[in-house]
Amino acid sequence: MRYGHFDEANNEYVIERVDLPTSWTNYLGVEDMCAVVNHTAGGYLFYKSPEYHRITRFRGNAIPMDRPGDYIYIRDNEDGDYFSISWQPVGKPLDQAKYTTRHGMSVTTYECEYKGLKASEKLSIPIGDNALIWDVVITNQSDKERDLSVFSYAEFSYHHVPIDNQNFQMSLYCAGSEYKEGTILYDLFYEEEGYQYFTSNFEPDGFECLRDEFIGIYNTETNPKAVERGSLTGSFEKGGNHCASLQKNLRLKPDESVRLIYFLGEGGYEEARAIKEKYNTPEKLDEAYSALKKFWQDKQRCFAVKSPEKGVDVMINTWTLYQAEINVMFSRFASFIEVGGRTGLGYRDTAQDAMTVIASNPKGCRKRIIELLRALTSSGYGIHLFEPRWFLPEEEKEKKKKPFKSPTVIPEPEGASKVHGLADACSDDALWLVPSIVEYVKETGDFEFLSKEYGYADGGTGSVYEHMKKIVLFSLKEVGDNGICKGLRADWNDCLNLGGGESALVSFLLFRALICLEETATYTGDLAFAKELSEKIADLKKSLNDTLWDGDWYLRGFTKSGRKIGTKDNKEGQIHLESNAWAVLSGAADEDKAKRALDSIHYKLATPYGIMLNAPVYTEPDDEVGFVTRVYPGLKENGSIFSHPNPWVWSAECRMGNGERAFEYYKSLCPYYQNDSIEKRWAEPYSYCQFISGKDHTTYGRAHHPFMTGSGGWAYFAMTHYMLGIRPGFDELVVDPCIPKSWDGFEVSRVFRDATYNISVINSEHVEKGVKKIYIDGREASKIPVFAGGEEHAVDIVMGLKGEER
Ligand code: GLC
Repeated sequence: MRYGHFDEANNEYVIERVDLPTSWTNYLGVEDMCAVVNHTAGGYLFYKSPEYHRITRFRGNAIPMDRPGDYIYIRDNEDGDYFSISWQPVGKPLDQAKYTTRHGMSVTTYECEYKGLKASEKLSIPIGDNALIWDVVITNQSDKERDLSVFSYAEFSYHHVPIDNQNFQMSLYCAGSEYKEGTILYDLFYEEEGYQYFTSNFEPDGFECLRDEFIGIYNTETNPKAVERGSLTGSFEKGGNHCASLQKNLRLKPDESVRLIYFLGEGGYEEARAIKEKYNTPEKLDEAYSALKKFWQDKQRCFAVKSPEKGVDVMINTWTLYQAEINVMFSRFASFIEVGGRTGLGYRDTAQDAMTVIASNPKGCRKRIIELLRALTSSGYGIHLFEPRWFLPEEEKEKKKKPFKSPTVIPEPEGASKVHGLADACSDDALWLVPSIVEYVKETGDFEFLSKEYGYADGGTGSVYEHMKKIVLFSLKEVGDNGICKGLRADWNDCLNLGGGESALVSFLLFRALICLEETATYTGDLAFAKELSEKIADLKKSLNDTLWDGDWYLRGFTKSGRKIGTKDNKEGQIHLESNAWAVLSGAADEDKAKRALDSIHYKLATPYGIMLNAPVYTEPDDEVGFVTRVYPGLKENGSIFSHPNPWVWSAECRMGNGERAFEYYKSLCPYYQNDSIEKRWAEPYSYCQFISGKDHTTYGRAHHPFMTGSGGWAYFAMTHYMLGIRPGFDELVVDPCIPKSWDGFEVSRVFRDATYNISVINSEHVEKGVKKIYIDGREASKIPVFAGGEEHAVDIVMGLKGEER
C-alpha cells in the first residue's frame, strides 16, 4: 500500500494519503533554529538546543499522536464549520476534505481543499533568520463570497524541557505573555533576554496568549473553544500556559486569494519588528525560499549521479544526502523519538556522521571533528556524551557565557566530573574519529589541519596528529587476555557490555584506524612512525585471523570469563554482523576468510528487509554478554535489522568485488523501494530508520525511528565511496566502482577541491568491479589528479578485466 510519491523535479515527497500509520518527519532550518515537523503539522521548535531552548511544546508518545504543532484553523462564519489546513488537529473526514503534505528540503507544505476553499501552509526557517515562517495562502474556489476567520495556534514551551515536564511550580509562575501592536510576546522571566515572539504581516482582529482560553480545559486542539465560538478574548498573563493565536477576519470573493504570513521567532518586540520589515513583501519571502533551495542545490551539485536505478539517483542526490546532512547539523536528540530530554553530541555517532558528507559540508564536518578532538581525553578515549561547550577553550567560553545565572541555566558539570572514567568509556568511540579526520584531509586537501592544536578534555593540548596517535595507542594498550581490544562499557553495540571482556569489532576498528594513520604518516613524511605502524598492522592481521576465526565466520568477542561470543558453538547469538563486516572492510581478514565470512552473513543474516544484526536471537539473559540478551527478540540490538551497520556489509562486499550482492542488499534496506508496502514498513520511504523489526518479532518488517540514525550517513558513504566507488585520495580522486553486472555504466558529476569532475563510467564488458582504462579529457591517464579550483574536466572510466585477469 502506498501513501504518496517522490516528486523528483521539486525534491519533495508528496503524501497524498495523510492517515499514515505513524508520523512522517521533516526538519526545517539549516543553522541554529530547527523545527521537527510531521505530516499533520505536529512537532516542535527549538533554538540551538532541543533540551534547553525549546520554543514550542510537544507531548511525546501521546495520543492523539504528536501534538501540538503549527496549526491554522479556518472558520466559515456563515455556518460555524471549521477545518485546519493540515489534516490534524481538526481531522475532517478524508472523503469530505482533500489533504496533501509535501516534505521538501527544509520546507514542508500542508494543503487542503474543503467546501470550496483551497488553503496551503508552508513552513520554513530562512537562512540568516531565527524564525519559523508560516506562509498561508487561502483561495475561494466557490462561487459565492465567503466570510471567514483564520486562527493561528502554537503552544509555547518553557525553555528548559526537564523543568517544563517535571516542575510546574517553577514553569507556571515564571513565564508570561503580553500583546502589543500585532505581536504576542512570550517572556521567560527568569532568563535575561528570554523572549519569543509571534507576529504576522497583517493587522490582527484578535489575539489569545493563554492556551487554556484558546483550547478550553475540557476541549483539545481538535475543537478549540475559541474557534468554535469564532472569536478570541485577548487574554494574557504573568504566569500560566501560553500560546500564540492571532485572528484574522476575511471576506473572500470567488477566485480571490489571500496570503497571510506568520513569524514565530527568537527575541522580543524589536526582533518581531525587524522580521516583519525584512519580509514586508511576499517577493522577499520568495527570495528566502530561493536561498534555501540554492543552499541545497549547492550541496547536491557536489555529487550528482545518473545511474540505471532511479532509486539510487533519487536517494543519493536528494534524500540520503539530506538525511546525512541533517544528522551532522542537529545530532541525534531532536526527533519524535528523542524529544529533547537529552542534548549534546554522542561521540561515536558524531564521529561517523562527520565522515559522510565532507564533500558537501566541509565546514560543518570540520566543526564536529574539532568538537570531538576536544572531547578526547589525554589517555585516548572519548567522552561518550558531551556538550561541545564544556570543552571550549576558556577565551571562547567567556564570549558565550551569559553574565546572569538563572535557575534555568543549563547545568554544567564542574571540571573533572565532565570527564568520565574508563569504566564508562565505550571502546569504539574514538576509533571512528581517526578515519574521519583522514577523510577530511583527503577531501579538502587541508593538510595543515593535522598540525592544529586542540585541548584534551582533561587538560593539556596536542596537535590533531597527536590526538590520532593517542586514540590508537589507547586501543593497543586496552586489550584483554586474548590480545583483543577490551569491550569496556560497550562497543558500537550499546547493548554488548563486555567490560574487561574483549570485542572483535573494536580490534577490527583499531586495524582500520592504524591503516589510516599509517597512510597519513607515509604521505606526510613521518616515515619512522609509518614503519612502526606497518609492523604493528602486519602482526595484528595475523593475530586477529588466528584468534578470531571461528571456521565459517569471525567471533564477536570474549566474555570476561573467557567464553566465546558469536561462535557456532553458541546456542544463541552465534553470528554477528558487526565483527564480520569490519573484518573484511578493515582489510584485516585473510582473503578466503573474508569470502566465507560474507557468505555466512548472506546465509544466516540476510532478509528481504536488510541484514539482521545477529542470529539466532537471544532469549536467555546473560549479563556477561550484556543487555542485548535482555532485549525482546527481533527488536533493536537483539536480532533486528539494525540499519546503521547494513552499509558496512555493502561496502565489505564491494571490497571483495561483489557488486551484485552489495546492490541486492542496498535495495533490501533502501526505503525508496518500500514505497508501495507502507502497510508493512509504517515509516517514511524517504529516510532510513534506526531499525526494522527482525524475523523473530510479530512486527517483522516494520521500520522504527527515522532520520536520526547513522544509517543515513553510512548509506550515503557506502553508495558514493564503495558502490559508485568515487572517493578522495591525498593527491587524487579515486574511481573504483563495484556495481551490478547488468549496469551499462553511470555518470557522476563530482566537485572535488573546487574543481568539477564529469565522470562517465562505461561498463560494456558487464563486470562487477575493475577499472581497465582512465581517460581525462579524452587522453589516457594512470590516475585522476587534483585539478585547480574552478576547472572542469571529463573523466571517462572503462570498467573491465585487464589482460592478465581475463
Ligand atoms: C543507537 C546509538 C548508537 C549505537 C547503536 C547500536 O543507534 O545511537 O550509538 O551504536 O544504537 O547500539
